[in-house]
Amino acid sequence: MAEHPAYPVGLRLTGRRVVVLGGGQVAQRRLPALIAAGADIVLVSPRATPSVEAMADAGEIAWRRRPYRDGDLADAWYALIATSDHDANTRASAEAAAHRVWCVRSDDADAATAWTPATGHSEGVTVAVLTTDARGRDPRHTAAVRDAVVEGLRDGTLVAPHHRTRTPGVALVGGGPGDPDLITVRGRRLLAEADVVIADRLGPRDLLAELPPHVEVIDAAKIPYGRYMAQEAINNALIEHAKQGRSVVRLKGGDPYVFGRGMEELQALAEAGIPCTVVPGISSSISVPGAAGIPVTHRGVAHEFTVVSGHVAPDDERSLVDWPSLARLTGTLVILMGVDKIGRIAETLVAHGKSPDTPVALVQEGTTAAQRRVDATLATVAETVRAQDVRPPAVIVVGPVVAVGPPAAE
Ligand SMILES: C[S@@+](CC[C@H](N)C(=O)[O-])C[C@H]1O[C@@H](n2cnc3c(N)ncnc32)[C@H](O)[C@@H]1O
Repeated sequence: MAEHPAYPVGLRLTGRRVVVLGGGQVAQRRLPALIAAGADIVLVSPRATPSVEAMADAGEIAWRRRPYRDGDLADAWYALIATSDHDANTRASAEAAAHRVWCVRSDDADAATAWTPATGHSEGVTVAVLTTDARGRDPRHTAAVRDAVVEGLRDGTLVAPHHRTRTPGVALVGGGPGDPDLITVRGRRLLAEADVVIADRLGPRDLLAELPPHVEVIDAAKIPYGRYMAQEAINNALIEHAKQGRSVVRLKGGDPYVFGRGMEELQALAEAGIPCTVVPGISSSISVPGAAGIPVTHRGVAHEFTVVSGHVAPDDERSLVDWPSLARLTGTLVILMGVDKIGRIAETLVAHGKSPDTPVALVQEGTTAAQRRVDATLATVAETVRAQDVRPPAVIVVGPVVAVGPPAAE
C-alpha cells in the first residue's frame, strides 16, 4: 500500500465531525489544529490529559468519557485513532474503512489511510511536509524540513515574494535594540521583501548588509532636508518612494511607538493615502537593561517601571515629565536619551526625595558587540558619566533592581 506516495490534500473541516479516539499526548498535540480548523470534534476516551480536559471544559471539543465502541465513527468525516489499546485501534480503523472515513493511526502508520504532515505557518501560508512512503518514515526529518522552510520564510533567508497580496506601501518596522537577532520574524520578512529601506542610526544595522543589491538603502540621518525639518523630509521620502509603487520599509530602533515618532510618520502616510503597516519591536527600554543583567521588575523589589525621556532637562519648560512625582515612586525608572542631562536629572530626583545612594546603571550600545555597563549612584552619576566617557545611545536605569543581579564573576 505504501509503495506509492501519499496524495497531499487540505481538508476543510469547518463544522464537520472529526472523531478523536484517545485523550493522551497525541490528541493533545493534534487537537489545537483541528479546533483551529473549526471541526466539530468528538473525543472518545475514558481519560484525558489536563490540557485536553481544559479544551473540553472550554467547550472546544465534546468529550465522551468511555472507551471506543463500534459505531463511534459513523458520522465522522475524519478520524484520529490514538488510544493506547492496539486492538481497539485496529477495530476502529476497520470501522473507518467500512464507512470510508479517512483515518490516521498513532500506533501503525501502515494501517492508516491518512498521514498527518509536519505543519507550520507563515503569513497566510500553511507549509505541510509529508514523508513519501511509510517504510522510509523519518518524522524528525519531515519536521526539520518543515522548520527549515517556515523559519526561512519567517526570517527572510528564504524569499517568496507575494505576487497577489503584496501591496506597495510602507511598513514601519521596529527593529529592536541593535542585535540583528532581536527583530521580529515579521519585521525580518518585510525587510527581505523591501525595495527601499529607510533606516535610523539605531537598530539592527547589520541586517542592512544582508539585503540584496537591488534594494535601495537610505540612511534617514542623511536625507537632505533643505527647507524641510528632518522629520518632514523623512515623511516625504517615505511617501515619494511608496508612490512609485515600491515596497518601503522604515526601519526604526526598538519599537516605533516608544520615542520613535512612529505615529507622526503613520499620520503623514495616511494623509497621503499610502497604506501603512506597523510592526512592533523590542524596545531598548526593557531589552537593554535585560541584556546587561538588570530586570526592570523583580519580585519583592519593584512593582512598577516607568520609562521616561531625558532629552530635555527637568527645568526646561518643554519638559512634559513630572520629575517630583517620579522621585516619590519606589520602583524602577528607565531613562532614554538621558546621558547629556543625567546630572540635572539626578539632582532633581534627590531634591524631591530620592536617596542619593539609589543605584544607577548606564548601559551603552546595549545588545551590540560594543555593549558596556557603568554603575553609579544618583550622587555620583554625573561625575561617573564624565570620568568614564559614557556616550549615547545609553539606557539609564535608576532603582534597587540595578543591584539584584548575580554577583559579577571574579
Ligand atoms: C529616540 S529613542 C528611540 C527608542 C526606541 N524606539 C526604543 O523603543 O528602544 C533613542 C534612545 O533609545 C535608547 N537606545 C536605543 N537603542 C539602544 C541601545 N542599543 N543601547 C542603549 N540605548 C539604546 C537610548 O537612550 C537612545 O538615546
